[in-house]
Amino acid sequence: MAEPIAPGKYALSAAAHREPVIRAVPMPSDVNSNGDVFGGWVMSQMDIAGGILASQVTDGRVATVAVTAMTFNNPIRVGDVVSVYGEVVKTGTTSITVALETLVTRRKDPSVIRVTEGTFVYVAIGDDGRPRKL
Ligand SMILES: CC(C)(COP(=O)(O)OP(=O)(O)OC[C@H]1O[C@@H](n2cnc3c(N)ncnc32)[C@H](O)[C@@H]1OP(=O)(O)O)[C@@H](O)C(=O)NCCC(=O)NCCS
Repeated sequence: MAEPIAPGKYALSAAAHREPVIRAVPMPSDVNSNGDVFGGWVMSQMDIAGGILASQVTDGRVATVAVTAMTFNNPIRVGDVVSVYGEVVKTGTTSITVALETLVTRRKDPSVIRVTEGTFVYVAIGDDGRPRKL
């Protein structure tokens, strides 16, 4: 069951008050056998968004080391405008943890629907591909 968020209210998330890290629109080639967008597609968009934030914090290369939480709350459909929001929630010696969530608006419907949330961990790496201190 979809959880529409009334425009301007965003009851589930404060994220939509900020700028998304990325926006994307899934294409027909991105659907699974149910006709909805493949979960791997949205995870890759989230990974790209989290990587942008992590790389800004570390001022250099990062690698994704783990996805420690991932929830798919509602389906994404071809043509939805998909916006990924994120914030750095933790930094360690070499790692950065980013909380990400994905909101969509569907065609001809102004409601904002929260579709996924996840926690992605990145490691700052040097030219040798090994962890470097933040
Ligand atoms: C990222 C990589 C360089 C880290 O090397 P490593 O030897 O595993 O590094 P470490 O064990 O020293 O851990 C580095 C940091 O990551 C954290 N970390 C490692 N595994 C983790 C996990 N499963 N969950 C959460 N954090 C993790 C460690 O706690 C550490 O954090 P800290 O320095 O802030 O305390 C290496 O694992 C790698 O190259 N992985 C492949 C990356 C990749 O290709 N990603 C794309 C996926 S297709």
